[in-house]
Amino acid sequence: MKSVTTSAPGKFVILGEHAVVYGKPAIALAMNMRFTMRAHRSNEFKINGAPANPHNMSPHMRYLSELHGNMPMSIFIDGRVPSGSGLGSSAALSAAYAAAVRALKQLPTDKESIARDSFEAEYAAQGRGSPMDTSASAQGGGIALNVPYKEEDFLWHIEKNGRAWDISKIDVPEMTFVIGNTEIRAPTGPLVEKVRKYKESNSFARSIVDEIGEVTLDGLEAIKKNDKVKLGSLMTYDHKLLSILGVSCPQLNKLVEASLPYSYGAKLTGSGGGGCMVALTDQPEKVAEAIRLHGGTPYIVSTGVPGVQVKS
Ligand code: PMV
Repeated sequence: MKSVTTSAPGKFVILGEHAVVYGKPAIALAMNMRFTMRAHRSNEFKINGAPANPHNMSPHMRYLSELHGNMPMSIFIDGRVPSGSGLGSSAALSAAYAAAVRALKQLPTDKESIARDSFEAEYAAQGRGSPMDTSASAQGGGIALNVPYKEEDFLWHIEKNGRAWDISKIDVPEMTFVIGNTEIRAPTGPLVEKVRKYKESNSFARSIVDEIGEVTLDGLEAIKKNDKVKLGSLMTYDHKLLSILGVSCPQLNKLVEASLPYSYGAKLTGSGGGGCMVALTDQPEKVAEAIRLHGGTPYIVSTGVPGVQVKS
């Protein structure tokens, strides 16, 4: 194959971030912000026309290049998933890039292989983490990790350093979510490390991580019953638990508070420390306005989007 076009979506987390790193349940939805990548074999590495090499690429792309033999290629990246914002930007970039490298090397480009490659890239770059973002981006739609599932919904099982995750697809009924971006960029690695340190030194922090897992399982039941009131209140409660873990920030709290009068519930999404929050609502315009008035950037997102796509 000479050239290929791939794409992969970002995601947001309904419930379970951070705790999922320790094998607890989580639920994530792919959404309509995605990266598209056009790639072809070349004599030298180029990104958007500019010379590149594995050392000045993002750590995720460098890892994936090395994983597949450092084949020089020229890539053009389009589209946008805001980075450092809890929307799975690096996972989406990794999935699109893994798909491009695999396609050009005539390797399988099934979703599972791409999810596995991009998880390894994310883990290497973050130093720790779960396969939530990378699986959501590869699969699309809605996924859950470490929840009870029907056999036909099972996707794949991933293990790393003594942790294990069963990933399954979930059907999420029609629901409207609004994302609010604080525009404060906060890379994932240091936040995951902060929670690790807190959890290792403090049994209260460990109990909060366990509780996030339980809240997520309750949330899954609420999703199955299409109970937005219950799901929203669990999301707001989860935000409080994440705040206790130290991964919220004043601007995230402000956007969550501002959204609540028009929402079933709201919480930070992703690693926190800045980045985005998400609200579940039937009044998206009002939530968007409240977010704007409080200094955030709103996106009314749609879900049910495809995962990684490969076109030659
Ligand atoms: O902030 P993001 O989009 O990288 O999401 C991170 C999610 C965490 O649960 C905090 C980490 C992980 O690897 O699952």
